[in-house]
Amino acid sequence: MEGILTGKIAVVTGGATGIGYAVAKRFASAGAKVILASRNSQRLATAVRNIGNEAVAIPTDVSNVEQVQRLFEGLERVDILVTCAGAALFGEIDTFPIAQAKSLFEGRFFGQLAAAHYAVPKMPLESVIVFCSGIAASVGLPYYSAGSALCGAVNSMTRALAVELAPKGIRVNAISPGLIEGTDIQSNLSKEQLENFAELTKAKIPLKRAGQPDEVAEAVFSLALCSYITGQIIEVDGGWTAS
Ligand SMILES: NC(=O)c1ccc[n+]([C@@H]2O[C@H](COP(=O)([O-])OP(=O)(O)OC[C@H]3O[C@@H](n4cnc5c(N)ncnc54)[C@H](OP(=O)(O)O)[C@@H]3O)[C@@H](O)[C@H]2O)c1
Repeated sequence: MEGILTGKIAVVTGGATGIGYAVAKRFASAGAKVILASRNSQRLATAVRNIGNEAVAIPTDVSNVEQVQRLFEGLERVDILVTCAGAALFGEIDTFPIAQAKSLFEGRFFGQLAAAHYAVPKMPLESVIVFCSGIAASVGLPYYSAGSALCGAVNSMTRALAVELAPKGIRVNAISPGLIEGTDIQSNLSKEQLENFAELTKAKIPLKRAGQPDEVAEAVFSLALCSYITGQIIEVDGGWTAS
């Protein structure tokens, strides 16, 4: 497909489902060659088939540094890096399995950091990184202590790298989704607690609905294209953080 991104290479971690898939589809629709990286080979194969436009799947567990290194080693160039791989862990502080909080950080925080570490040497002038954070960095979200801390860490990393990488001509931003349909949630909350939580959060959203992955992808696409935005955390949340 010919488009404004023809000739560009975009790596999307977590690109087989949800927000990452929508992002990969959006970039491919503008002509980019997209490389999808996540763990489940079957889901990757389906995503690559649906996206077309020479999309490529490279099975990768982003919590494994050697695998992240291998992912980028094989690439000649990276023009766009979008890091959507990661999970969501909900639970009350005194009961959630504490070891899962560590593995949450290994995949969703260190996975993003490691991707930037190995991608940057391959990034030419005018390339861009878009990290994935979440509004839990800015609002008090019950049952989400570890995830909230993680989102704050991603926001801080975004600002630091935006300043560090500006001399190399690399822009760094983050999208910060609110409640978006389709995420894979790990939780030990009861069905009733989860339903109450969903109601509570929807009540806080001025647009009165959850967002769609395609709506987040549109924000990522704008960040990738606008050459004067760097160091920004863009809330894609139906107005939640404004209310
Ligand atoms: N949806 C929301 O409301 C929302 C809000 C704020 C933030 N976020 C964050 O946004 C990101 C994308 O969410 P989503 O809604 O698109 O959820 P999703 O559909 O569950 O996507 C997460 C993707 O990450 C991949 N992944 C998970 N752990 C991985 C690992 N260790 N290595 C490689 N890939 C891994 C999964 O594929 P495999 O399992 O095949 O590896 C999956 O494709 C997540 O980090 C999520 O926490 C989502």
